[in-house]
Amino acid sequence: MIQRFSFAGLTCIALLLGGCNFPQSTLEGHGAAADRIARLSWLMTILFLAVTLIMWVLLAWGFAKRRGTLEEHAPIDSDGGEIWIAIGGLAVPIMILTVLFVLGLNLLNDFPIHGMHGAMSGAMHERMKPEIRITGNQWWWQIDYLNDDLTQQFTTANELHLPAGRPVDIEVVAKDVMHSLWIPALHGKVDLVPGVTNYIRLESSEPGIYEGQCAEFCGAQHAHMRLLAVVEDPETYAAWLQAQLKPGAEPTTPEAIAGQQVFLAGPCAMCHQVRGTLAGGSVAPDLTHIGSRKFIAANSFPNNNAYLEAWITHAQSLKPEALMPDLTQFSGTQLQDLVAYLRQLQ
Ligand code: CUA
Repeated sequence: MIQRFSFAGLTCIALLLGGCNFPQSTLEGHGAAADRIARLSWLMTILFLAVTLIMWVLLAWGFAKRRGTLEEHAPIDSDGGEIWIAIGGLAVPIMILTVLFVLGLNLLNDFPIHGMHGAMSGAMHERMKPEIRITGNQWWWQIDYLNDDLTQQFTTANELHLPAGRPVDIEVVAKDVMHSLWIPALHGKVDLVPGVTNYIRLESSEPGIYEGQCAEFCGAQHAHMRLLAVVEDPETYAAWLQAQLKPGAEPTTPEAIAGQQVFLAGPCAMCHQVRGTLAGGSVAPDLTHIGSRKFIAANSFPNNNAYLEAWITHAQSLKPEALMPDLTQFSGTQLQDLVAYLRQLQ
């Protein structure tokens, strides 16, 4: 109740300002797991506020009741007040921390790590079959939609689409250093560790756009390693899957046709892939449907002509130390054509 009330306002402000549906907050869950985490987060917040309030009231009361100075009262006559140190300094903190510790452990137990090790329990006991693999890279997310039928597999980046109303199992791995995937509205954090496969089960109760973030310091652009979870109703999701399976759109306008030539003949194709073309690089985000994504550079900047041009020519200013170099060799026309090509890759 409380969270619905207090965060409705914030959500509206976020909508007005940024066009994003839901802020990154552990206090407002939009799925089974996140709801449970939100309840504990609210309990912790309320306890913290209550303790702080009581402390300030006692402090004010102490000041109000102050009589004379320490010299006047030497030797200090505490009048049996020491017991309050034991109560306020030991008994109360031990009580509160024990309750939170037990509740926290209990919550951890609800989300077992699936895989080779770790206990499984209850309804989650069945062998998990991940539908999606997320790979952490410095500083972006590769997202592979898995399928036993290899023709139904595809790769995308930084924008995770999920169907609403059912759980989706995801395996997470790291390519270089440790990262941590965190979409607060949907679940807690899961670490991406090189050489280890971890799992998370994401479920959202309603369609919406949920922001995520890398939550483990992973280098210079850790803060610009963001992720968007786009949760859609099952029909929209199925349509999105079908659209993503298609190869990159063939350019039709003169600008886009020229842009494709720039893309394929230049350095872009060495690192990026556009399925259906000769561009088959795999060290950078798959651009087959880049035009359909809301943001670029791991959700750091809006996906529009201006930012695409800036990103191509001055990535090192926008995101220093990212692997994307400053490509300043293109003429103005070439750059415009290149962006026209990328934008029509819907
Ligand atoms: Cu990846 Cu921090």
